[in-house]
Amino acid sequence: MSFLDRRIHLVTGKGGVGRTTVAVALAHAAARAGRRVLLAEIGDPEGGYSAIGRKFGREYLTPEPEPLAEGIMGCHLWAIRGHELFVRSVIPAGPLIKAALASKPLRKFLVAAPSLYEMGVLYHILCLLKQKDERGRPRHEVVIVDMPATGHTLALTSLPAIILNLLPVGPMARAMREGQSYLNDPANGAAWVVTLPEQLPVSEALELLDGLRSTEMPAGGVILNRMPENPFTDEERDALEPLLDETPMHGEIAFQRIGSAEVSSARLKQETSVPVWELPEILGPKDEEPAFSLADFLAPLIASTS
Ligand SMILES: Nc1ncnc2c1ncn2[C@@H]1O[C@H](COP(=O)(O)OP(=O)(O)OP(=O)(O)O)[C@@H](O)[C@H]1O
Ligand SMILES: [Mg+2]
Repeated sequence: MSFLDRRIHLVTGKGGVGRTTVAVALAHAAARAGRRVLLAEIGDPEGGYSAIGRKFGREYLTPEPEPLAEGIMGCHLWAIRGHELFVRSVIPAGPLIKAALASKPLRKFLVAAPSLYEMGVLYHILCLLKQKDERGRPRHEVVIVDMPATGHTLALTSLPAIILNLLPVGPMARAMREGQSYLNDPANGAAWVVTLPEQLPVSEALELLDGLRSTEMPAGGVILNRMPENPFTDEERDALEPLLDETPMHGEIAFQRIGSAEVSSARLKQETSVPVWELPEILGPKDEEPAFSLADFLAPLIASTS
């Protein structure tokens, strides 16, 4: 399967490794390949700015998909919206449900109870995956989710099995089975672990891959972000290393970073069987968005099969 063949991608990883940037770059690359892309972020549309929105020059996103760029729609995955959609699918009594869900205490409860929060988010995702355009085609061919922290990802991917254990029949069970048919089927869904080419982040990425495996979420691969450019041949490296041991030199730290990035990359490739995609450190001006250049590197990778 290639990235482009699957319907849903969860972009996950530790804080600050570049999840949002990579999710946006994947969306640009998939849109350039002609796909109708939905780029989503989990959050509360009433609670602060949107990291994805900012990459497209806007402060907020809404729970309804809106166009962000050519071929890319964007939205907030909102637990409360998912709860509302779910309740409506069971009891079609519109105004009452809206009034009930507008109640502040009920909202607080729904958002604070761990599985209920994830259930709302997952149901919102399912509804978006099933939306059709005016020609009856999926409105969003590829859904890319910029996941929050690692814990949230595992809470979401483990949810269907937990709920099905508790409630094996009924409308909720049906929704969870549908969730599994997208998330746990490698033909439909994949999680991508973004990490940095350093020792600790690589260990954390390997742990996250184990966590995904235990929730039966297929891993599409690891995205090793911010690989430093390596201008040296092996011979040049071997010649330089003893010199640096003797005399401190300008650029020594950058030189060592290249070495440790190569070691981290080799370790990752050795300790996991999933594809490892390397993305370079983009050294443009501070105000230039790295996601655009990263999309060029991702273009051949998302079309390749693995
Ligand atoms: N390949 C890259 N080259 C250069 N800069 C990058 C690259 N990837 C990400 N960045 C920069 O690193 C910073 C952090 O990236 P980003 O916000 O995507 O990380 P994140 O994992 O989503 O963080 P958070 O945990 O806050 O959500 C941003 O300033 C982004 O522009
Ligand atoms: Mg982010």
